[in-house]
Amino acid sequence: MRKKITVVGSGNVGATTAHWIAAKELADVVLVDIIEGRPQGNGLDLLQAMPIEKRDSYVLGSNDYAATANSDIVIITAGVPRKPGMSRDDLLNINYKIMSEVVGKVVQYSPKSFLIIVSNPLDVMAQTAYKLSGFPRERVVGMAGILDSARFRAFIADELKVSVENVTAFVLGGHGDTMVPLPRYSTVAGIPITELMDAATIDRLVKRTRDGGAEIVKLLKTGSAYYAPAAAATEMAEAILKDKKKILPCAAYLDGEYGIKGLFVGVPVKLGAKGIEQIVQIKLTADEQTQLNKSAAAVKELVDIIGVGATPVLASAS
Ligand SMILES: NC(=O)c1ccc[n+]([C@@H]2O[C@H](COP(=O)([O-])OP(=O)(O)OC[C@H]3O[C@@H](n4cnc5c(N)ncnc54)[C@H](O)[C@@H]3O)[C@@H](O)[C@H]2O)c1
Repeated sequence: MRKKITVVGSGNVGATTAHWIAAKELADVVLVDIIEGRPQGNGLDLLQAMPIEKRDSYVLGSNDYAATANSDIVIITAGVPRKPGMSRDDLLNINYKIMSEVVGKVVQYSPKSFLIIVSNPLDVMAQTAYKLSGFPRERVVGMAGILDSARFRAFIADELKVSVENVTAFVLGGHGDTMVPLPRYSTVAGIPITELMDAATIDRLVKRTRDGGAEIVKLLKTGSAYYAPAAAATEMAEAILKDKKKILPCAAYLDGEYGIKGLFVGVPVKLGAKGIEQIVQIKLTADEQTQLNKSAAAVKELVDIIGVGATPVLASAS
């Protein structure tokens, strides 16, 4: 039987995610949105691209969650994106309301699904989905680190004029101004970038990575990035569906790992058929740990505002 992925939110990120999934023939896709006609229109348009792409993914749009029943994976992109001058944190209250509504429906129709959270502020929305769904932590994962490290990789490849395929990069921490890029774990064909670039160049690329989302928001003026975010969410879905056991930087609920307890923070995880199969712990320098703690504290501040540090509300749904 074909796999089924629901994408909630048929906006820029959601529709583009559906596009990547269908183009890779990973699964059938159901797009859901509150705007009448939008997911149906996007779904039909994508379905009509399939004969050209020679892909047999069925794509359907709906305003009704009944169409999403028994999805294997649900990718949540519903919410408001940033406008110029806004931080991701400015989206907190409005997207919390949207996330609560969406998670309730998703749990009702797809109680065994894996949740991939994309809406911002990312780590807090992932925590919201985890707490409200009552799903085990293996089945709730946030998308941020893959995007942040892809941005770093793109800048490194461009700087050194090498193939992006040669470049790996590691970014830890929350999705936002406190993200922690790790140059010593970032390599070109296995060579640490610290051997290939001077400190000032690395610092410049790190800063551009940290501000990578804002740079695009400033250019677009009416929304935020969506091609790379959608590609990143698709990579996570693919790792789960194909049981790839890929090590990817994702937001995961930590229970003491890296000295952090009860909070979603970006760390390397192994993604496979069981979802988060392992949280990979690497040794950090004192300075990196301090930066990670700072990042976690920033997530905790927002988590406390909306009160999603408490016990699961829909705990029976796991
Ligand atoms: N994690 C990341 O790295 C990352 C990257 C890019 C964007 N984002 C976030 O993803 C979210 C979506 O961004 P976008 O550019 O696609 O925005 P968008 O405005 O283009 O699309 C959002 C869609 O969500 C829909 N929506 C709103 N409330 C809903 C509800 N209750 N149920 C179903 N759908 C609902 C809207 O109608 C809209 O179509 C934003 O919060 C943005 O900040 C996160």
